[in-house]
Amino acid sequence: MFSLHVSVLHLSAFLASTASAAVEANGDNTVNLRIETNLSTLYEGPITSGPRNITMGGVTYPCDGQGAGSNPGKALGNCPTDALDAAAKARGFTYDGEFDGEFNDWDVTRIATTEDWYNLTIIQYWGSLVNYQVSTFGERLTLSGCQQLLNPGDDVLWAFITLPAVGGDTNEATGVSFLKLIPMSVTVKKGKGFTVTVTDGRSGNATQNASVAEVKTNAEGKATLYLFDAGFFQYKAHRTGDVRSNVMNVTVTD
Ligand SMILES: *[C@@H]1O[C@H](CO)[C@@H](O)[C@H](O)[C@H]1NC(C)=O
Ligand SMILES: *[C@@H]1O[C@H](CO)[C@@H](O)[C@H](O)[C@H]1NC(C)=O
Ligand SMILES: *[C@@H]1O[C@H](CO)[C@@H](O)[C@H](O)[C@H]1NC(C)=O
Ligand SMILES: *[C@@H]1O[C@H](CO)[C@@H](O)[C@H](O)[C@H]1NC(C)=O
Ligand SMILES: *[C@@H]1O[C@H](CO)[C@@H](O)[C@H](O)[C@H]1NC(C)=O
Ligand SMILES: *[C@@H]1O[C@H](CO)[C@@H](O)[C@H](O)[C@H]1NC(C)=O
Repeated sequence: MFSLHVSVLHLSAFLASTASAAVEANGDNTVNLRIETNLSTLYEGPITSGPRNITMGGVTYPCDGQGAGSNPGKALGNCPTDALDAAAKARGFTYDGEFDGEFNDWDVTRIATTEDWYNLTIIQYWGSLVNYQVSTFGERLTLSGCQQLLNPGDDVLWAFITLPAVGGDTNEATGVSFLKLIPMSVTVKKGKGFTVTVTDGRSGNATQNASVAEVKTNAEGKATLYLFDAGFFQYKAHRTGDVRSNVMNVTVTD
């Protein structure tokens, strides 16, 4: 879903829900957060958040996994939008969205300066994944950021996704790969080849033709890199139309 979506705010549901049980943080609320715009990585690393009230699009509502009855019987908890909010406060950027009264959640439409838009050819919009999986709540890639409960150490990804305007499924982002690069960290000797693997984190399928340090992956999603200068380097996997990967740290020794 993106900005064509018409939000209907059910004020009664809003009041009923804010009046419910006090928000209690549930243990460790530290997750690994990544925010990928179409041009760069805005955030990558741990963030501690926890349930809190969020304000977007002029609406304040608790973001705690209880929207639209998504987790009946479960304690209030940390969600992808809570992590986004904590990162925004830590790094000094803002974000915005439109509240949807049916799901009691927001469609996040802007993070920092990157904002949903579309023309007759393409749609670009924000969606969230947890451990590379699309939510079963809300509208899956959108309208689930305050419904999906996180566990400590989960990988939370806010991704700016590009789809064709015609036939592009904004709910599932069919055809888009969310690249995952392994190893995440490696130490190698100068000039000694080492192999990296790129997959679509969602399906686990190998990603062919992704670039890592300007080397293309093969049909098995593998590329062999040779680095000739000692030092510390960071690389990501990229492929046109897909969401870039996590960072890989490479320490090259003499
Ligand atoms: C959220 O707002 C409600 C209503 O003002 C308040 O009762 C609640 O304590 C707030 N929750 C948090 C976590 O600040
Ligand atoms: C990146 O996203 C912005 C919207 O924030 C858009 O205006 C711009 O055209 C996009 N650029 C590319 C290369 O996709
Ligand atoms: C839509 O935007 C893209 C990227 O800026 C551009 O390449 C394309 O020509 C535009 N399509 C239309 C119909 O304006
Ligand atoms: C990669 O290096 C950065 C910067 O030193 C560090 O913050 C991050 O934890 C490292 N990641 C891994 C997987 O080692
Ligand atoms: C992953 O690979 C399997 C087996 O080749 C294929 O059936 C499936 O469609 C692929 N999934 C995606 C999302 O590409
Ligand atoms: C491989 O990626 C390049 C861009 O990096 C693109 O021009 C080319 O068409 C791709 N080839 C295949 C087989 O997907």
